[in-house]
Amino acid sequence: MADTNIESSLKESRVFPPSAEFSSQARISSMDAYEEMYRRSLDEPDVFWSEIASELEWFEPWSKVLEWNEPVAKWFVGAKTNLSYNCLDRHLSGWRKNRVALLWEGEPGDQRILTYQMLHREVCRFTNVLVSLGLRSGDRATIYLGMVPELPIAMLACARLGVMHNVVFGGFSAEALRDRINDSGSKILITADGGYRRGVIVPLKKNVDDALGGGAPSVEKVVVVRRTGETVGMESGRDLWWHELMAESSDQSEAVWLDAEHPLFMLYTSGTTGKPKGVVHTTGGYMVSAYATAKWVFDLRDEDTFWCGADIGWVTGHSYIVYGPLLNGTTSVMYEGAPNYPEPDRLWSIIEKYRINIFYTAPTAIRAFIKWGDQWPAKHDLSSLRLLGTVGEPINPEAWMWYHSKIGSENCPIVDTWWQTETGSIMISPLPGATPTKPGSGTRPLPGIVPDVVDRDGNSLPDNQGGFLVLKRPWPSMLRTIYGDPERMKKQYWDEIPGVYFTGDGARRDEDGYFWIMGRIDDVINVSGHRIGTMEVESALVSHPNVAEAAAVGIEHEIKGQGVVAFVTPTGDSEPTPELKNELRDHVGKVIGAFAKPEQIRFTDALPKTRSGKIMRRLLRDLASGKEAVGDTTTLEDYAVLAKLRESEEA
Ligand code: WT7
Repeated sequence: MADTNIESSLKESRVFPPSAEFSSQARISSMDAYEEMYRRSLDEPDVFWSEIASELEWFEPWSKVLEWNEPVAKWFVGAKTNLSYNCLDRHLSGWRKNRVALLWEGEPGDQRILTYQMLHREVCRFTNVLVSLGLRSGDRATIYLGMVPELPIAMLACARLGVMHNVVFGGFSAEALRDRINDSGSKILITADGGYRRGVIVPLKKNVDDALGGGAPSVEKVVVVRRTGETVGMESGRDLWWHELMAESSDQSEAVWLDAEHPLFMLYTSGTTGKPKGVVHTTGGYMVSAYATAKWVFDLRDEDTFWCGADIGWVTGHSYIVYGPLLNGTTSVMYEGAPNYPEPDRLWSIIEKYRINIFYTAPTAIRAFIKWGDQWPAKHDLSSLRLLGTVGEPINPEAWMWYHSKIGSENCPIVDTWWQTETGSIMISPLPGATPTKPGSGTRPLPGIVPDVVDRDGNSLPDNQGGFLVLKRPWPSMLRTIYGDPERMKKQYWDEIPGVYFTGDGARRDEDGYFWIMGRIDDVINVSGHRIGTMEVESALVSHPNVAEAAAVGIEHEIKGQGVVAFVTPTGDSEPTPELKNELRDHVGKVIGAFAKPEQIRFTDALPKTRSGKIMRRLLRDLASGKEAVGDTTTLEDYAVLAKLRESEEA
């Protein structure tokens, strides 16, 4: 990952302990308390997890906490529960029924506020809609919506019934959407006429029509939320309006008793092969981890208003906009649009308006705020904030310091949370009332989590030596499988290094046991916190008629963390023109989504390959970032290729 990050974080020696005031009111208020909890979680894991799980509702108890047959875990074996029930019904008997569950603001400035009781009614209504459309426990539903309240409502309705949801980020193209619908075999698709983003309407329904037009035989019905009021085509017999279905539907629905291992959702993410994989999470374990981590890391209190600024299309939004906060009975804020619309202070104005207490965002966003200028946060009263968080990529110490001083007034702990779609919940993070933080480090593992830094053979490495980040023990919210491809799950995560879960990240551990994540060391690029597989970009490029061969690599990017650079060999009869470059960028946008468009495309007569025909990405990475190829090139098949590539740089 970004070399400057590694160098500056190697030099980083500042330590920021939580204030006495923060600690005295925190749920976990000292390192001793943390150490004690951590030790207990490893010495007596069954007791530890049982106690936490018992804070939630179970219809039938478990006979065993964990059954572990590497690589498949079963947690809370034999128990029955329902996640939607735990997020909603559980809060209705006491004072919390009229606490705000979702505090939503649309990009144009409209608002919707749903208390736990109101949200419960909407979710029950939509559960009945799903039943009336023929959905049953075990079916799949794809949700392709912007950030509107109907998105969590649909998710919670699926969870209530035992239907797996497959949320597809609204920034994905029609083609990417179709692949995800087809792989999941979804019976139903939930979308909207459009969504607002930076003052423009994102044509969600049109993308859906294009996706289904290309062939998606499993889809029987499309439910369309009216968000923008634009005219959209409605195919009779297939397309139905959300509001019409809801109007006819009862607001009472019993939550189905589901097995703890009943599949809850799939979420497609990029890996080292061309095809995105559907990471599967199940009900009981995911519920316990989402609940516990939200409570520990964000130190949630009954009076808090919590804002995770992610999109629900990614796992961060699943776990920390929807499930984690609602399980804890918190007020979760949801904002529909762009952070700089109509002006670059939109987020700060939202924090001021709702007196938000906890704010969680990505380093890439922080770097954009820095670039937009200090005057924007300075215009607002941000004194309601007591805790800040980051997620998605390594944070450079400079961005950390800016967040600390300009947003947190040097007063708010920062929790730098490391985790993945596959882990389901936060794995490594400070506990804000206990852990002294160091800018750029995720610090220590949460209770029950055993990370290590190892070499290829799985041997632990000494302090401050870089290696592979692995997780050595199962945890409740660990992925259970790759949808339809259990073999791949084994190969991808468990065969790489014997006996442990391989994360795909590089890391080092310092003398205080703090983890410093260095970023992906596999063929995954992290662009603005979005995971993109190099193979995905490459297969998108070679699907264009003018491309013979392509290789994509990540380079450091000032705002996005990383950007994509693609080396392309055009077919013999194609002219390598600037127009073709633009066309190819757009083509990648069309196949994957605009966020995956390469920063740069470089034409080349040939790609550097080893004698066995493997593309030498390391060499391309060095070239793309303007470095001389210092690494070993002795296996390079054709030295002339390298010289030609260097020339192509100037062109
Ligand atoms: C990859 C997972 C987990 C929610 C968002 C991304 C990187 C994530 C951090 C962090 C350094 C981080 C890793 C990881 N990452 N959080 N705090 N510090 N790197 O989920 O799309 O599954 O991506 O994001 O490289 O493997 P994801």
